[in-house]
Parts: sequence; structure tokens; C-alpha cells
Amino acid sequence: MEEERGSSFGCKLARRSMLGACLGMVPWLAHADETSGPAASPPQVGDRLVFLTGEKKGQVVRVDDLPLGGPQVQAYPQDPKTGVVRDGSRLNLIILARFAPEDLSEETRARSAHGVVAYSGVCTHQGCPVNMWSNELHVLFCSCHGSMYDPKNGAQVVGGPAPRPLPSLPLKANSDIPVVAAGFTARVGPERY
Ligand code: FES
Repeated sequence: MEEERGSSFGCKLARRSMLGACLGMVPWLAHADETSGPAASPPQVGDRLVFLTGEKKGQVVRVDDLPLGGPQVQAYPQDPKTGVVRDGSRLNLIILARFAPEDLSEETRARSAHGVVAYSGVCTHQGCPVNMWSNELHVLFCSCHGSMYDPKNGAQVVGGPAPRPLPSLPLKANSDIPVVAAGFTARVGPERY
């Protein structure tokens, strides 16, 4: 429950400050129990991404669904053959955001599809979902303790206590659908996981 309290508190704080979008808390605790099998497998090459919350919950994310310049959306990978959504592990939480390709660092652009970038949605500090966005700074924001990540530059840490960037999830384009091109570039989650 600490994580939920931390996140909710952070969102309340954020509403009084410079921060913009505050994404849903639900997914974190809803998937607290990892299972085995394909739903708990990490993202696989060719997986699509499906919305975790909102009006399009459960639908496949398309490039034009993502607002140019942020904020991010939360998603889970989905096996396109079986339709299995890999929501059996909290470590599969992914965040997606879209930017003009020329605004991305070279390495980030190489991992993007039509300007869409994907990262682990699990904060590398203590594992909260990275569920907020700063309209002022244009960075991903973890509401638990204020870590900030630059989505246009490999989710490098630009503020707060996080010890390392969010792992990237390389993408490729299947028409207007971003799909997984390779596994996470680093171990997901904080050190204690
Ligand atoms: S868990 Fe994200 S800043 Fe602490």
C-alpha cells in the first residue's frame, strides 16, 4: 500500500504545482501478483502495445493516438497472434510518447518508430509507476519521490533520486502501429527487485 499512498500523494502535490497530466494509479496494484506463462513474459519482438486506461483501454496503440510532444500513455505488450496481454507482471508496464523525430537524440531516434518512444514504466528508484508528465519541463515524472526522466534522450535522469535511466524498449513500425523491435535495453525496476 505504500506505493499507492505515495503515488496518490504525489499526484495531489502535483496538482498544486507545475505538473501536468497525472495518469491512473489503478494498474500498479491491480497487477501486484505476478503469474507465470505468456501473460507474465517480458515484451517479445513483434508485440503490439495496448492502452492500459482511458477511452481506448485494451485497444492497440496507433501512432496517431499519441499526442505529439507528450504526455505519455501507459500500455502493456500484447501478443498479436494470441491476443494475450502481458499484464501478468508489473514489470511489463510500458510508457509511450511521441515526438518529432528530429527532436530525439540520435540513439533514441534509432529506437523509435515514427517518433514514438517506449520505456519501462517502472521507476528505477523504488519501483513506482512513472505516471505523470511535466507540461513545463516536458519530462516524465514519478510522483512518489519526484524523479524526472527525459523521454527525448533515452529517459536519462534529469531530477530526483532515481539512480539510472528508465530502460528503453526499442520499437519498429508496422504501418501505423508501433511494435516491439527488441527487449528492454536494461534490467527493469529498482535494485531491490
Ligand atoms: S519511486 Fe519514483 S522517485 Fe521514488
